[in-house]
Amino acid sequence: MNAPAPIPDHVPAELVVPFDFRNDEAIRQDPYGYIAGLKDCPDIFFSPDLGGYWVVRPSAAIGEVFSDHERFTATSLAIPKRDSSVVLIPNNFDPPKHTKYRKAMANSLFSPRALATIDADTRDFTLKLFEAFAPGRCEFVSEFAYKLPIDTFLNLMGADLSLRDQCLSWIKLIFRGRTVEETNQGFIEAYTWVSQWLEEQLADPSRNSGSMFQALAQMTIDGEKPAFDDLRAMTLMLFSGGLDTITSQMTHIMRFLAESPAHRQYLLDKPEEIPVALEELLRRFGISFIGRAAAKDQTFHGVFMKQGDVVCAGTPIAGLDPDEWEDPLAVDFQRGGGKRVKHLGFGAGPHLCIGAYLARKQLTIMMEELLLRMPNLRIAADTEAIENAAGATMMLRSLPLEWDVAG
Ligand code: HEM
Repeated sequence: MNAPAPIPDHVPAELVVPFDFRNDEAIRQDPYGYIAGLKDCPDIFFSPDLGGYWVVRPSAAIGEVFSDHERFTATSLAIPKRDSSVVLIPNNFDPPKHTKYRKAMANSLFSPRALATIDADTRDFTLKLFEAFAPGRCEFVSEFAYKLPIDTFLNLMGADLSLRDQCLSWIKLIFRGRTVEETNQGFIEAYTWVSQWLEEQLADPSRNSGSMFQALAQMTIDGEKPAFDDLRAMTLMLFSGGLDTITSQMTHIMRFLAESPAHRQYLLDKPEEIPVALEELLRRFGISFIGRAAAKDQTFHGVFMKQGDVVCAGTPIAGLDPDEWEDPLAVDFQRGGGKRVKHLGFGAGPHLCIGAYLARKQLTIMMEELLLRMPNLRIAADTEAIENAAGATMMLRSLPLEWDVAG
């Protein structure tokens, strides 16, 4: 862990509140209870942890940090700030540069045509992983939540599934790293791995026919194919944006369902309501702490920030804001009156998650297929404690589950 940073002169003492979402003991033991407790802190406070950064609490103000690139630049996204030599495209670009990369990626990689087989493939992977569980028992994080997103993604990219463990090793360093050094090391390994993988694919264009990789290699931006460095930055973005996030989300949703028979039964009785229920679960169990840097000296909701200050837009904080959500810790599938609740789980504005469709698909299929096959689902009887893992996103370290097996 890094030592707390000195408090800058422009930060008033009454706004200083320690908050280390990567490592705090309290966040590990009761992640969402701890986040909900932030309601007693100032609306915007400064934490000396993780290199020193502003934490924004009201959901509406978090939406502004996500959306307003003239005040908050995405050129620096990590908390703590990391080695800026590794660029993620399109996430690290601000509009207008961001817009053309984002459009090209959305049109070629995430079009309905590009994702035509995603439903059938995801179901197939889900069932294979279920069949590999011991009868009536699994450790959900390592045996399912880590595996489904990467198998789905490698398959979409047209890559060999045997690469799963290599990818997971650097993804874990990037996201579970406890210090800036560990995270940087993860990015260096990722950079090397992705460079090599891309070179191999580009050397033999007949590989990966019809895959997301081919769409990436063939896309044009301003009429030109992307240079190798841009291709690498987009590939790295997809790997790093689309894997740990879904894993993290799955762990909290599955824990909740294992501990809440009434909610589980509702979804079993009304599977057609799963997409609406999912949005409430995404609101309740936000997982991302996204950074921005103040683009200029400015006063934001009464708080003076200097250019370059790191500002955190936390989706778990937005989802539990008591001024936005009545009884925010309660999961209420009727909260939206039959409609999907509008939350910030996938961010907002120009950088709104490009992979949200893919994520929703996997989370929906997980609930549809697994709940059916796990009667009387519960936390395994011999489980000592369920803890949040240290790291960049909210993820459970392990989740031992049990269910009844017929006969
Ligand atoms: C439950 C799963 C997911 C969650 C909670 C999530 C969350 C987010 C959030 C909060 C942002 C906004 C970042 C910002 O404003 O800087 C974002 C952006 C992004 N996400 Fe996701 N994400 C998920 C899944 C995925 C998947 C599956 C992919 C792709 C395979 C993906 C790719 C991206 C990309 C490329 C961006 C940057 C978009 C841009 O800058 O225009 N995400 N995601």
